[in-house]
This record gives sequence, structure tokens and C-alpha cells, in this order.
Amino acid sequence: MTANDNRRVIAVADPAALAEAAADRVLARIEANSGRVAICLTGGSSPRQLYQLLATDAYRSRIPWQRVHWFIGDERFVPADDPLNNMGMARALFLDSCAPAANIHPIPTATADPTDPDRCAALYERELQSFYGADTLDQARPLFDLVLMGVGPDGHTASLFPGDPALDETARWVVGVPRANVEPFVPRVTLTLPILASCREMLFEIAGAEKHAILTRLLARENLPATCARSTGETVWLLDRDALPEDFGGR
Ligand code: 6PG
Repeated sequence: MTANDNRRVIAVADPAALAEAAADRVLARIEANSGRVAICLTGGSSPRQLYQLLATDAYRSRIPWQRVHWFIGDERFVPADDPLNNMGMARALFLDSCAPAANIHPIPTATADPTDPDRCAALYERELQSFYGADTLDQARPLFDLVLMGVGPDGHTASLFPGDPALDETARWVVGVPRANVEPFVPRVTLTLPILASCREMLFEIAGAEKHAILTRLLARENLPATCARSTGETVWLLDRDALPEDFGGR
């Protein structure tokens, strides 16, 4: 599968504007598909405001919850009720109060062998393949309508860390990552690049002065995981003013 080389950069004023722009894009992707919709969420702190917004009446009342399915692009290998659990955060902020339980698809860290993230990865791979209805991807029929992404200080995205063999995976859909490169230092489970790429839109949310240094490197197209993550459809980088490099037009 070839990923599309174009990425669109959209700069907004601050984290509140960023969450609103992201929520509008989530809605637009849902509205563009009159059938079953699949959205792949992300962890970390960046999507918190977006998730809170989706639970507010302005958005909640416009989402056809019965036909939208929610997945997660990577997970910390901790139990579902651990505060570090990515899907746990999304559930607490909007899914549990808005979405039917059957439409929430967490990475099953609890049911898998607690010492083996790869076993957990294999279970989630099967769940994704059964949802998709095939075990190979067809570029004309993307797995996800929307994939949300964040960026870490080392340029990682999902749980794909610089130099990790998981970055080169082309066969498996989901893999275990025994060692994280940044906090929290717990093993991870992550979707691989070709699977994350199988979407109509990949949407990065990057905000705050602490993202300024890594964003400067990414915009210069340094070879880092977040630069390699692209959709086969549209790739959008939603940035706020504090994260932008000084010489970025429109700052
Ligand atoms: C995770 C994430 C990870 C995250 C980035 C950005 O499990 O930590 O999915 O890829 O998106 O590290 O994290 P922040 O949003 O907290 O900066």
C-alpha cells in the first residue's frame, strides 16, 4: 500500500480552537459516510479537549452513535482501568456516556497474557480483520474513516518509536512494543504504519510550546515516525500557534 505524500498543514490560534477544528473534522468524516463509520482514536493528552467536546450537546446530538465504531491506534500495556490506559481516557471523557458499548473496540490488555504484548496485539489484529471482513487491505476500501494521531517529543506517533523495528512492519496489523522510548515506560501495543494509513483521513493534533522543537524537525521532513505516518487518503496536521516554528508562514 502506498501512502499519499501530501500533508496539509492547518494552523489555529490555541488548543481550544484546535479541539474545535478537530471535532468539526470528526463530524465531517462521519457525515461523509452514510454507512458504518470507523474512527481510530489516539492517546496522550493532546486529544483530551476534543474528546470532551464530542460529549457536549453541540456535537453529541449530531453524531449517529449507533453506526459509529471507535478503535484506538495504540495502547499502554496496562489494565483497562489503569489511569494510563488510552482507551480508558476516551471512555471516561466521552465514549461511555455517548457510544453503545458494542461500538467501543479497546485493545484487550486485560484478556491477553499480562506478560506478552504481542499476544494482545494478535487479538486486536483479529478484531480489526473481522470488523473489516478481510485479512488484507484493499486500498479502494480503507479500514478507517478517520485516524487521530499525536506526536511525542522524540517524533514518535502511536507507539511507533524512532529506530524501533515495528516501524518497518508490513505484514502484521498490530504489534507489541516491549520498550517505550518516552514516559510512561510501560510496554505498548500499536497499529502498524500500513494499517494506520488505511483511512480516508489521518488527523494529527499538535499544540503547545513543548511541541515546538519536535514540530520544527518534523516540518523539515526529518526521518522520524511521525513523518512516515501518512494516510492513503488525506493527511492533515492541525497545529496551534505556540507549537509552530518562528519562520512558519501564517504564525
Ligand atoms: C501514547 C500515545 C502517543 C501520544 C504522543 C503525544 O500512548 O502516549 O498514543 O503516541 O499521542 O506521545 O502525547 P501527548 O498528547 O501527551 O503530547
